[in-house]
Amino acid sequence: MTVSSPLLPAITFIIIFFLIAFPPPSYSSPFIFSKQKSVGNAGKARQPRQLSVTYYAKSCPQVEQLVLSVTSQQFIEAPISAPATIRLFFHDCFVQGCDASILITSKPGSKQLAERDAEDNKDLAMEAFECIHKAKTVVENKCPGIVSCSDILAIAARDFLHLVGGPYYQVKKGRWDGKISSASQVHINIPRANSTIDELIKLFNSKGLTLNDLVVLSGAHTIGFAHCKHFVNRLYNFKGTKQSDPSIDSRLLKALKMSCPQYGGNGAFVAPFDVTTPFAFDNTYYGNLEAKLGLLASDQALFLDPRTKPLVQDLAKNKQKFFQEFALAMDKMGSIGVKRGAKHGEKRKECSMHM
Ligand code: HEM
Repeated sequence: MTVSSPLLPAITFIIIFFLIAFPPPSYSSPFIFSKQKSVGNAGKARQPRQLSVTYYAKSCPQVEQLVLSVTSQQFIEAPISAPATIRLFFHDCFVQGCDASILITSKPGSKQLAERDAEDNKDLAMEAFECIHKAKTVVENKCPGIVSCSDILAIAARDFLHLVGGPYYQVKKGRWDGKISSASQVHINIPRANSTIDELIKLFNSKGLTLNDLVVLSGAHTIGFAHCKHFVNRLYNFKGTKQSDPSIDSRLLKALKMSCPQYGGNGAFVAPFDVTTPFAFDNTYYGNLEAKLGLLASDQALFLDPRTKPLVQDLAKNKQKFFQEFALAMDKMGSIGVKRGAKHGEKRKECSMHM
């Protein structure tokens, strides 16, 4: 397993920089194991195609422990696996449903690229793919041919959420893996940093997710990092005005400009989403939006639009509510377009290859 990333020097630099520029009230270590209790009643949410918490109770009762043995170790060795895996799960679920189609590698020489090679998926961090591969190997060892890659991804995303200080919830299982993975499906199904609120609402609605789910799930941007290309226009040429975005805090603007020049910058450079507590899953994301400290235009837009602003203000005040709603929304997202049975899906031996 790779424990170092080519992004690490950039990440280290930017973290130090941002911690100096925006010192948090109290620094939260990513290595502290959160003792949050299970919140919400995610188990009671709607159950499309009968996913169930006890799906492997007889066939592989130790599946969750096996996955946790890998995720907890990976979190110690490479904490950026936490945001990376949560994002991987989101990108899997939004394209053809939660069916691990994101894990398939393109056939060498084939013109038909798989999802993970689509332009919008190029930034997905390797650590996340490696972690799922490792978890699958451990699970296959004990329960051969039983547990789908899509269920392992759902469990790993929940584990990382909890490891990084977020809520714990029971993961419903029973997904089968998809038989199709096509790069051409990605662009239309993945939101972009410059998507408007109308576009985001439409996209989320098309997945059975509400306006509230959009605001709550965007709270995942309380951890993790983004490359300059996703927000550079906000710094120098917002909406073609040749001016910076008026809704960025001036100190943040200055700091981001130093890291992300308009031309010729380091393409590998990343900035933290949450400038106050970049390694803690908490509700400061929403407070940051109120303080014009959102990183992407799509983040800041949640505070500018009258439909989403009251929800942002509410979540900024209430961490417990955010945790409850985030657990429910992850459960809902994890149920998008799930496949059941050999007619619609497969149980892969190797997550990156179809049967
Ligand atoms: C609402 C629309 C959304 C947009 C426009 C969006 C866009 C982005 C972009 C541009 C990045 C930076 C990628 C990079 O430069 O490497 C990112 C990162 C991330 N996104 Fe989103 N995202 C959205 C929703 C979500 C949702 C629903 C989740 C999960 C529930 C999520 C989880 C993450 C995480 C955890 C990261 C950090 C990844 C890392 O550090 O490796 N995002 N997102």
